[in-house]
Amino acid sequence: MVYITRRERFNAAHRMYKPELSDDENYRIFGPCSNPNWHGHNYTLHVTVRGKLNPDTGFTMNLKELSLLIREYVIEKLDHKNVNIEVAFMQGKIATSENLAIAIWNQLEEPVLKAGAELFKVKLEETENNFVEYYGENQKLI
Ligand code: NI
Repeated sequence: MVYITRRERFNAAHRMYKPELSDDENYRIFGPCSNPNWHGHNYTLHVTVRGKLNPDTGFTMNLKELSLLIREYVIEKLDHKNVNIEVAFMQGKIATSENLAIAIWNQLEEPVLKAGAELFKVKLEETENNFVEYYGENQKLI
């Protein structure tokens, strides 16, 4: 097995909150990311796939093809969007990086398989200091 990673970036707005709580209660749980007037992040996404080398090409998977899949299934749906109100696969979910990473995994798992590799890891950086990793272990979105 050889593991390869493609990095992509996107910008998106969000608000982390539970609608049944007051703004003060949401702030206590989610901090500044609960701002009722939204805010944005410059996200960095690392998608790692693994597989045996293709005997014809020496590739695990063509990285250009992986980039195109990530753009089609993830970036075009998230970039310059409001995660809470414009992103179908996040509807009704809390707009945490954890949930986003799971949703991104769910978007990519099948297309990557069809392309002949296996999705191994989704790493999503919300800031330089905060990032999450998901390895497809059947966590449901919250
Ligand atoms: Ni935030």
